[in-house]
Amino acid sequence: MENQGSANQNGMRKKYVVIMAAGSGTRMGGSLPKQFLDLSGKAVLQRTIEVFLEAFEDMNVVVVLSPDYLDYWKKYCLERNFICPQVLVAGGITRFHSVRNALERIPEGALVAVHDGVRPLLSVDLVRRMFSEAEDVEALVPVTPCVDTMKVLRKVNGKDGRQTLEAVPGAKADRECLFGAQTPQIFHSELLKAAYAQAYDTTFTDDGSVVEKYGKNLSYTMGERLNIKITTPDDLVLARAIEQCKR
Ligand code: C5P
Repeated sequence: MENQGSANQNGMRKKYVVIMAAGSGTRMGGSLPKQFLDLSGKAVLQRTIEVFLEAFEDMNVVVVLSPDYLDYWKKYCLERNFICPQVLVAGGITRFHSVRNALERIPEGALVAVHDGVRPLLSVDLVRRMFSEAEDVEALVPVTPCVDTMKVLRKVNGKDGRQTLEAVPGAKADRECLFGAQTPQIFHSELLKAAYAQAYDTTFTDDGSVVEKYGKNLSYTMGERLNIKITTPDDLVLARAIEQCKR
């Protein structure tokens, strides 16, 4: 990759985005992982990468793929004439291990965004605003307020073998304090690399949780409701409708 140094000519940190696309996408059903499914004429993953390239022309792109799909993606890019500088990295057994593999390709002293390849609907404005804010804070996480009333429930196995839900006694969720965390989450790369040197823990659900376990506080900024993570077939229907509306 070019630009292996950590600061650009203006003394600003160089910008990297790690696009996570090594998941198998089992909740979607079907054989092709969701990052490769069609979203209004382009693969979901292509649309995601294009948002970051449109936000900053000096963006360094690292794409993490399952070893099984490295050739698939190279062929897709050639056939679709999607020619952009991108470093391809083989993913690991969990998202944590995939991020850790990618961080080997990121220098210290840079800004590194980690973004789910299956979130193609974020705006160029969000990327620009977050990279600007992240110059001044070490760890920046986008969140959206919770709009539904939240119930704290647990799954219970009935005698007939069916699973039901029941309230956890005494547990209440105050909606005012609940926010959903999205990606991209942006970090000073020396912090993220140090945090990812920790041993894997099953409580790591996003990059922010890895950094918190390392003992650092996170900063928060407003995310976007349309920045959905395409996880189920319903999400894909929604994403296609949103993409059509943007035209
Ligand atoms: O599985 P989950 O929905 O949390 O995946 C979030 C993102 O992380 C997806 O874009 C997926 O491709 C990626 N991932 C990965 N390596 C894994 C598992 C998930 O890059 N081993």
